[in-house]
Amino acid sequence: MPQRTFSIIKPDAVRNGNTAAILAAIEKAGFRLLAIKKLSISKEQAEGFYYVHAERPFFGSLTTFMSSGPIVPMVLEKDNAIADFRKLMGATNPANAEEGTIRKQFAASIEENAIHGSDAEDTANFEIGYFFAGYELA
Ligand code: RTP
Ligand code: MG
Repeated sequence: MPQRTFSIIKPDAVRNGNTAAILAAIEKAGFRLLAIKKLSISKEQAEGFYYVHAERPFFGSLTTFMSSGPIVPMVLEKDNAIADFRKLMGATNPANAEEGTIRKQFAASIEENAIHGSDAEDTANFEIGYFFAGYELA
């Protein structure tokens, strides 16, 4: 059974016109695009999505950034999708991201870092359910 993961193309990458290039890199790496949409979220909705980071010093700035413009959430499918997608994204801070990763190519800073990817199966399930209804994944 292929595994599902959840990803968001963040507002910086959408604003900079990098949506299509990032989607191409994702498909080239062997991920199947199960569901995708484009929308803007409120600060409150961003806080709900990133609630695990509520106590972090960057929480306010992160949720302001994530609600600053349209984002592209998606559900991806592949064997070992969660770990493989984290590899494809690269390190949180693009300064430390490996050559060929999405963050190396498209991220500007540790906060405006172009892409999100789930870090475990339970967080993937929560995040998929936050943005997609069951019928959208059939
Ligand atoms: P993500 O959850 O977005 O896939 O990123 P990640 O696992 O690589 O990093 P995480 O530690 O979960 O942090 C979530 C997002 O918060 C912003 N951040 N800012 N200013 C800072 O020190 C800082 N650290 C993290 C980034 O947008 C990061 O992706
Ligand atoms: Mg994370």
